Amino acid sequence: MTIHKIGVVGCGLMGGGIAQTCAQAGYETVVREINQPLLDKGITRIYDAWDTMERKGKLTAGQVAENRARLHGTLDLEDFADCDLVIEAVLENMEEKLRLFPALDHLLKPTALILSNTSSLNVTQMGAVTKRPDKVCGLHFFNPAPVMKLVEIVQTINTSEETVATVREFALSLGKMPVLAKDTAGFIVNFLLIPYLLAAIRMLEHGMASRDDIDTAMKLGCGYPMGPFTLLDYVGLDTTLWAAEAIYEEYKEPLYAPPPLLRRMVLSGMLGKKSGRGFYEY
Ligand code: CAA
Repeated sequence: MTIHKIGVVGCGLMGGGIAQTCAQAGYETVVREINQPLLDKGITRIYDAWDTMERKGKLTAGQVAENRARLHGTLDLEDFADCDLVIEAVLENMEEKLRLFPALDHLLKPTALILSNTSSLNVTQMGAVTKRPDKVCGLHFFNPAPVMKLVEIVQTINTSEETVATVREFALSLGKMPVLAKDTAGFIVNFLLIPYLLAAIRMLEHGMASRDDIDTAMKLGCGYPMGPFTLLDYVGLDTTLWAAEAIYEEYKEPLYAPPPLLRRMVLSGMLGKKSGRGFYEY
C-alpha cells in the first residue's frame, strides 16, 4: 500500500511534533484541533521549529516554504476523508478515543489505516470499535517527536501482518527506527521507563537524596541526557500519571502504583514544563 496523505488528530505537543515530522518527510499532512486557538498555537509551534532549523542551517528557506505548503490545519475531521493513514494523538482518555475511532472508521476510505500514538492505553479496544481492526495499530512516538529516533509499532491480536509491514515502511520513511511491541500496557519503553521515574519520586518523598543530586547522579553516572525529574517535567506529570495508572491497572504491580506526591502535584496543576511548574520552575 502506498501512503501519500497523512491525517493527525490533535496538534498538542505530540500531535504537533508528529505532524511536523510527517510534513518534513514530504507527506501531505492535515492536522486537526478542536478549536482555532489550539490549532493556531500548535501550528505556530511547528513554524517556530522550522524557523529555528533554518537559522541553524538544517533547512533552507525553500524547504521551510515547502514544508509549510504541505501542512494543513483544520477543525473538521471530514478533511481526513482522502487520507491513507491517520494518527490519533488526542488526550490519553479512552472515552475520547472510543468516540473518535468509529467516527474515523466511518469517514475514511476502506483501505486507510488508523494508528494511535497512545503511550499505554489498550489499542485492541480502539480497533474493536471499528469495522477494520486489522488496519488499526499503535505507532508510539517519543517527545520531542521530530528529534527522537524511536517509534514503537504496537500490534494488537487483530492487526494484520500487512498493516505492520506498511507501518514499518512508513516509520522508516519518516527517518525513525521502528520496534515491534505487543499491545500490553506500557509496550516496551514505558514498561521500563515509568518504574524508574516513579522510583525517583519515591526517593524524593522518603528524603533519600535531593532532587538535584538525583538528577545529577543519573545524568553523570549513567550518561542519560536528562535526570529523572527534568524528564518528568519534560514528558508532563499528567502524562506520567496516566501511563502509570494504565500499567498498574493491567498488572497490579506495586512498582507501577503512582506515588502520592505525583498525584497531588497533578491535582494541583503542577504538570511540568508545559504548566510552568513541576519538580522545577520554568
Ligand atoms: N524540531 C526540530 N528539531 C528540534 C526540535 C523540534 N521540535 N526540538 C529540539 N530540536 C533539536 C534542536 O534544535 C537541537 O538541534 P542541534 O543539536 O542541531 O542544535 C537538538 O534537537 C537538541 O535540542 P537542544 O539543543 O535544544 O537540547 P539538548 O541537546 O539538551 O537535547 C533532548 C534535548 C533531545 C530533548 C535531550 O535532552 C533528550 O534526548 N532528552 C531525553 C528525552 C526523552 O527521553 N524523551 C522520551 C520521553 S518518554 C516519551 O516521550 C514517551 C511517553 O509515552 C511518556
